[in-house]
Amino acid sequence: MGGIEKRKQRHIRMSLEEDVQSDIGTGLDEVRLIHRALPEMDLEDVNAGVELFGRRLSAPLIISAITGGTEDAKEINAALATAAEEFGIGIGVGSQRIAIEDPSTEHTFRVVRERAPSALVLGNLGCPQLSLGWGAAEARRCVDMIGADALAIHMNPMQEAVQVGGEARYRGILSKVREVVDGIDVPVVMKETGCGVALEEAVKLEEAGVDGLDVSGVGGTSWAAVEHHIAKEVGERDQEDLGRALWNWGIPTAVSIVETSQSTRLKIIASGGIRTGLEMAKAVALGADAVGMAGPFLKRAVEGPDAVREHIRRVLLEFRTVMFLVGARDIEELKRVRVIILGRTAEWLRIRGFDPEDYALRGV
Ligand SMILES: Cc1cc2nc3c(=O)[nH]c(=O)nc-3n(C[C@H](O)[C@H](O)[C@H](O)COP(=O)(O)O)c2cc1C
Repeated sequence: MGGIEKRKQRHIRMSLEEDVQSDIGTGLDEVRLIHRALPEMDLEDVNAGVELFGRRLSAPLIISAITGGTEDAKEINAALATAAEEFGIGIGVGSQRIAIEDPSTEHTFRVVRERAPSALVLGNLGCPQLSLGWGAAEARRCVDMIGADALAIHMNPMQEAVQVGGEARYRGILSKVREVVDGIDVPVVMKETGCGVALEEAVKLEEAGVDGLDVSGVGGTSWAAVEHHIAKEVGERDQEDLGRALWNWGIPTAVSIVETSQSTRLKIIASGGIRTGLEMAKAVALGADAVGMAGPFLKRAVEGPDAVREHIRRVLLEFRTVMFLVGARDIEELKRVRVIILGRTAEWLRIRGFDPEDYALRGV
């Protein structure tokens, strides 16, 4: 088994068996939606459907990038894609680097499009590979491999810095992103991996021509934690301690949603620690166009397609119920409902130059 395959298996194993959750929240617990005692609609009037990157979704939910490249990963992808197709939600594949380097693993990614022929499917490639010389040609191969509707390019400077043998190379990255945007004919989504995106990057990425941003903020899976456990297992003390020290590094998801959605016109995907339909509704009310989850789907996928189905069914039931309770008939209305921001998240937003009062008053 090659080095990348081993690393991928370790990532999955650590995510399933060890504590890899951030100790601080997403900030969404400090966001309140307002209950409407007279919603002036029936529960059955709720329409959660959205259009994103040319596909119709039954609800703004995406299974975030997790894996590919090994036989186990293929099974996980198959279970996730089957459910995504049935529910009409989106799905992203894990980094396709391994399949570009070793085409014999392509089938572990292709299974996603085979099982989800009409779903929104996102390809995945990492910034470090672009820094090391890959460009539009490799990006096109990723898209063609799975008939992707959009390509996610992941940003993971923290993970690469903490990972044993990581490639923390981000010099000149923006011009490489521009090259990919100009060289492929599907939308590009820049995606963090659990540390959030600040408005400075959001603005630069919009100028570079990208179409979307997946904020993947702090509050859920911590890659510092994953790499901490791996470093511990292989006896690399420095990286083990670095992972511990940076366990909660980054921008909470709620803050990142507000910063990026207020400062750009990019399509915003909210992820990082979102676990419930209520949190999903809060993320949309704060400005997200769709919501992604990774950790919860990985846990269900190893149990099989039924567990994945059950998870989606419950999340969407909760999401639609909350839409009813705030009187939102559709996603556009949910985006305009009044939001109250309390506590630490409000302080953070003030530091960043936003007035939380705007959110408390909006829509009244
Ligand atoms: C096992 C595992 C593997 C992942 N691999 C990738 C990847 O290859 N590319 C990527 O963009 N994100 C990857 N992620 C990050 C997720 O897509 C997501 O941004 C992050 O886990 C935060 O979401 P969560 O709190 O819902 O897990 C991975 C996450 C997990 C748990």
